[in-house]
Amino acid sequence: MKTTVVILAAGDGTRFNGNKPKVLHEIAGRPMLAHVLDQARAAGADDIHVVVGDHADAMRAAADDDTLHWHHQAERLGTAHALQCAGDALAGSEEDDVVLVLYGDVPYVRPDAIQSLLARLEDADLALLTKEEYEPAGYGRIIRDDDGRVVCIVEELDAIPDEVEITEISTGILAARGGCLPGLLERIDNDNAQDEYYLTDCVGLAVADGLRVVTADADGGDDDIESDTRHSALGVNTPRQLEEAERAYQWRLAEQLMAQGVTLRDRRRFDVRGEVRCGRDVVIDVNVVLEGNVALGDDVRVGANCVLRDVELGDGTQVEPFSIIESSRTGRRCTIGPFARIRPETELDDEVKIGNFVEIKKSTIGAGSKVNHLSYVGDTGIGRSVNVGAGTVTCNYDGAQKHRTVIGDDVFIGSGAQLVAPVKIGDGATIGAGSTITRDAEADTLTLSRAEQKTVPGWKRPGGKEHRQKTK
Ligand code: UD1
Ligand code: CA
Repeated sequence: MKTTVVILAAGDGTRFNGNKPKVLHEIAGRPMLAHVLDQARAAGADDIHVVVGDHADAMRAAADDDTLHWHHQAERLGTAHALQCAGDALAGSEEDDVVLVLYGDVPYVRPDAIQSLLARLEDADLALLTKEEYEPAGYGRIIRDDDGRVVCIVEELDAIPDEVEITEISTGILAARGGCLPGLLERIDNDNAQDEYYLTDCVGLAVADGLRVVTADADGGDDDIESDTRHSALGVNTPRQLEEAERAYQWRLAEQLMAQGVTLRDRRRFDVRGEVRCGRDVVIDVNVVLEGNVALGDDVRVGANCVLRDVELGDGTQVEPFSIIESSRTGRRCTIGPFARIRPETELDDEVKIGNFVEIKKSTIGAGSKVNHLSYVGDTGIGRSVNVGAGTVTCNYDGAQKHRTVIGDDVFIGSGAQLVAPVKIGDGATIGAGSTITRDAEADTLTLSRAEQKTVPGWKRPGGKEHRQKTK
């Protein structure tokens, strides 16, 4: 048995009022198309075909998979026409070959729902994924006879009032056996309210042909309307539905993390856009966004309003509120923030402290070192037990090139120092506050560069005290 999946993704997404193709709008930081490709792979697809309209290049780039087969639908004439554009992919050569049709704008389907849809095909020719939807507006309605057998699908704009009341809807997703689709598709016309070739019309034709048409439930039989499984197989046609699909997806991710033991202060104010691994006793406060690959060790705490992108935090590390960390790693028991910005390629060893209004870029900082206040550290290697005073700046850029600063172990840098790279500060050296350091400082020395302080006694400011009093 061969399973061929066809993804319909040529629609323009007119209700988004933008230039971007609808299926490239994102859920959890990934295009809807990528989520649908996951569904296809999980269904055990031998071949995956994607039907696209304009923007084919952007679609290919988003899919990033050179095993896919691409088909072009030049004009949006409807879902049946789109499926026909997949051509030979639909013609199963063996009786037990299966064609599974997925919709590019249905980004999340319970994995077990697609499995049960395929299982239903064992004794049928056509299996439809349907669902009870208490707000069915916009969906095709499933029409059944008095014995509960499927008769056809009616699109909302073509439905008579009694049919509009029906709450069992088509998710669009269907599976067909043994190449029965081409013969059905060629008989579909566009004599309807939208002048479109509706794929859903294949159901009435199949029933009329005496084919066996069955359904599977997208919610896996769960009829609790409060349950989050009820978000399975919802279509995304509007920005509002995109937001609903995003929140439903985030809700599930949060549930999974909490089930693993992670404490989330508010699952409604927490977003994951990538993969997250958490150790034990992790606590995440409100408005935290985790992007890319994030690994949080045991006892990690992330304060409110932090963004962590491609980050690995060692056990016991604490990120205080309003901090942003990107493509960086920390050792154990570090503290970062509040209001810290850690830019890519930064590595902090154990027990490093980065305080408020500090920016670190492409630097390594040794165990126990501190950069506590208002500093910029870029392209720098800092040793162990170093204290970088408030307002210290590594001047790493000369307008053309970046240069490195190297700071040894046990160095003390006084506040307000500027280290003009390339420059080296030896182990145990002390740099006086306010110094501009342009040459290397030897180990265990004090280096400072300061203009001598002067006092001018009896000096009067222009327009001195009397003048100021007059103008009061
Ligand atoms: C469709 C179904 C409806 C179902 C709903 C589920 C039809 C006629 N209607 O309605 O019964 O309840 O999905 O979400 O199928 N597409 C193309 N080419 C086209 C038209 C559409 O590739 O010419 C693609 C779109 O990119 C989209 C999918 O097919 O991914 C569905 O099209 P859309 O226009 O969104 O159909 P709905 O009105 O939502
Ligand atoms: Ca749709």
